[in-house]
Amino acid sequence: MKLTVVGGGSTYTPELIDGFARLRDTLPVEELVLVDPAADRLELVGGLARRIFAKQGHGGRIVTTSDLDAAVDGADAVLLQLRVGGQAARQQDETWPLECGCVGQETTGAGGLAKALRTVPVVLDIAERVRRRNPRAWIIDFTNPVGIVTRALLKEGHRAVGLCNVAIGLQRKFAALLGVEPAGVHLDHVGLNHLTWETGVRLGGPGGEDVLPKLLTEHGDTIAADLRLPRLLLERLGTVPSYYLRYYYAHDEVVRELGTKPSRAAEVAAMESELLRMYGDPALDEKPELLARRGGAYYSEAAVDLAAALLAGAGSPHQVVNTFNRGTLPFLPDDAVIETQAAIGAQGPRPLPVAPVDPLYAGLMANVTAYEDLALEAALHGGRDRVFRALLAHPLIGQHAYAETLTDSLLAHNGEHLPWA
Ligand code: G6P
Ligand code: MN
Repeated sequence: MKLTVVGGGSTYTPELIDGFARLRDTLPVEELVLVDPAADRLELVGGLARRIFAKQGHGGRIVTTSDLDAAVDGADAVLLQLRVGGQAARQQDETWPLECGCVGQETTGAGGLAKALRTVPVVLDIAERVRRRNPRAWIIDFTNPVGIVTRALLKEGHRAVGLCNVAIGLQRKFAALLGVEPAGVHLDHVGLNHLTWETGVRLGGPGGEDVLPKLLTEHGDTIAADLRLPRLLLERLGTVPSYYLRYYYAHDEVVRELGTKPSRAAEVAAMESELLRMYGDPALDEKPELLARRGGAYYSEAAVDLAAALLAGAGSPHQVVNTFNRGTLPFLPDDAVIETQAAIGAQGPRPLPVAPVDPLYAGLMANVTAYEDLALEAALHGGRDRVFRALLAHPLIGQHAYAETLTDSLLAHNGEHLPWA
């Protein structure tokens, strides 16, 4: 089996390599290609990747290259984990929206739109090149904003699945609180990427006992503290929102906080220099502790699980993925991309049925779906007017004066990445 990682020079890659090494019985990778335009990073990351494989006795070959076409040739799956413009572009996304009193975040709100505009054309170009060389390859997309990027890929007819680590992180968290194995915890997970709620936590599988009420009673304080939301809110909801919902439920509080501290992009950039320095040490042969301070915990396990189910008839029978709605949530269009539990097989994901959704969540999902639709239009066709429409539609923006100002800021800060701006 050959897998290709686009953005292989990312500081996250050792997380992925560690997962491939530990879980090699689930997913037997013979060749792993790391492709990246940044030759210096790739060399550092590739060196550590080979040492991790060697230490863990993994016989697979690791190839590093900047040649995308060669990298994807013959690949069974291509993982996308790229960031157009790097942390510098993220730093902008997290900053200029604050000038309007709106959240500055890499995937949520106006910053997320900027990221979508920069990213969608690049990802579609890569996907096209994958398809030309290798029409049967699966594309596994971690590239944010995952909902919009996956929607772009699926609308173009690519064999793509979007992936995020929020669900697997909560599954692990709840399993630890319950004192059971993660595989025994099934989440009733509803929503869109970075806009999800756990409406049930079931033991053993989709039909199992729902222990969410018990979790909230016994561990409500811990869960609330992790999300940095009040326990009372979780009790009122009776569900567990993802931490991205804090940008909605505590929007103004978050904006105030963001105004008083360095951006996440700046923190991550500092960690990345330190990580790259560590990766260059020939004595290092495992993923360093420092990597755990990034947001990507367990994403290698999610990736292995998904690739195993798509390619090897292995992995968990049900997994949370981003895929076309196709009637799963009747209040959303069929071509909306939702994040949902699905049975995964060689033909891709088949969403499991979802119980009727409380209007409290359905309304916000419908609103953000409409925004994502307009965001994709803007990413595909460009133009100030399309950017404005997407911003006006976003529930965290909404007012015309903000949408005008944010449109100007977005275009002013992203000219280099948007040929039409
Ligand atoms: C989580 C999210 C990812 C996001 C990451 C950010 O893993 O699911 O979509 O990219 O956090 O982490 P960072 O360390 O870059 O802030
Ligand atoms: Mn994510």
